[in-house]
Amino acid sequence: MHVPVIIIGSGPAGLLLSHLLHVQGISSVILERKSRDYVEGRIRAGVLEMGTVGLMERVGVDARMKKEGIIHGGIYISLNGKRTHVNIEELTGGSTVMVYGQTEVTKDLIAARLAHGGEIVFEAEDVSLQDIDGDKPCVRYVKDGNMVEMTCDYVAACDGFHGVGRKTMPGVKELEKVYPFGWLGILAHAKPVADELIYAKHDRGFALCSMRSETVVRHYVQVPSSDKIEDWSDDRFWDELRTRLGEEDAELVNEGEVFEKSIAPLRSFVAEPMQHGRLFLAGDAAHIVPPTGAKGLNLAASDVHYLSEALIAKYKNNRSDLLDTYSDTALARVWKAERFSWWMTSMLHTFDDHNQFEGRIREAELQYILSSKAGLTTLSENYVGLPY
Ligand code: APR
Ligand code: PHB
Repeated sequence: MHVPVIIIGSGPAGLLLSHLLHVQGISSVILERKSRDYVEGRIRAGVLEMGTVGLMERVGVDARMKKEGIIHGGIYISLNGKRTHVNIEELTGGSTVMVYGQTEVTKDLIAARLAHGGEIVFEAEDVSLQDIDGDKPCVRYVKDGNMVEMTCDYVAACDGFHGVGRKTMPGVKELEKVYPFGWLGILAHAKPVADELIYAKHDRGFALCSMRSETVVRHYVQVPSSDKIEDWSDDRFWDELRTRLGEEDAELVNEGEVFEKSIAPLRSFVAEPMQHGRLFLAGDAAHIVPPTGAKGLNLAASDVHYLSEALIAKYKNNRSDLLDTYSDTALARVWKAERFSWWMTSMLHTFDDHNQFEGRIREAELQYILSSKAGLTTLSENYVGLPY
């Protein structure tokens, strides 16, 4: 069997790419290692840039997002218990973000892909790539114990940080920074702390109050990398969150039944280049950002925007130039988002290994940003997402 484009991975990157190609009449098959239930159950972040929302609109998968998503025109930044409002909408001349869980984005994209006759092979094991340097790459996988082989024109590896795509690419350079802490995150049935997200810097560490709806909250606290989930009872979590928010905002925290709790490590990572022969990387397969800037899903979306445009130019107009420059185009935006995520992470977290001087510098930097229109504007511009 031959298909124009084989996509590895049914996370947001692979699914969105498949849709973007489909609306232009280009067919693809998605190979996913895990089951549909597993993919739809993964808890991830939840802030969409307008560019990402625009792509969901373009592929016609925006109905539930428009109904259930919450538009936010700002964020709060709290420094040692004192909260400042950042009016992002005003500072950027009208840009906003959409609070809508990535888990819901994934569910909506899968349902729509299947409804339009798209093929997603779940539980495709041992995916391997051959001949990515030739004209007709070959992809093999095992399904229900049987080996299946397909050829294609192009392979899009949208298979996340641990995927097979990047591992198959010769000569790829990996640049990485691992942070000495993680985020302990909970989902709980409770009312949000405020009308918008609160990013809090405190001497005891970072905290974030987010939400999924008027009745479900997503909160995080910075924890040392060595901490285990067993170390954190629900009571300890709520106490620590209140402490980091400071006395006044602590009063606003509504406790509720915690129904998910996990610890995620923080990492900055970029693979260069993002293409080789007929293999293209997109999303977490090529880069990871710490979640402080809410950029992970949005970068996956901008990558597949560029990749879909390049493939469409090839199939519709027989133009290869956009494919040839895909990696350069994508990486230019990726590095800016890496910088923003690194900067937000550095400024808002407590680093045990920093000497007191560096700690004070970081606090002064945040104080400066919060007191300067120019500072708040640069933060806001990056938060809503740089243009494609
Ligand atoms: N074969 C087939 N599928 C694979 C393989 C493999 N060898 N390896 C990984 N996968 C699948 C994973 O099971 C997963 O469903 O690829 C998918 C990758 O999806 P994500 O990890 O969600 O990555 P991506 O689509 O790039 O989404 C970007 O935004 O908020 C961030 O990290 C967060 O997932 C998020 C990301
Ligand atoms: C989330 O709601 O999960 C979330 C929001 C903002 C971030 C990170 C995660 O920066």
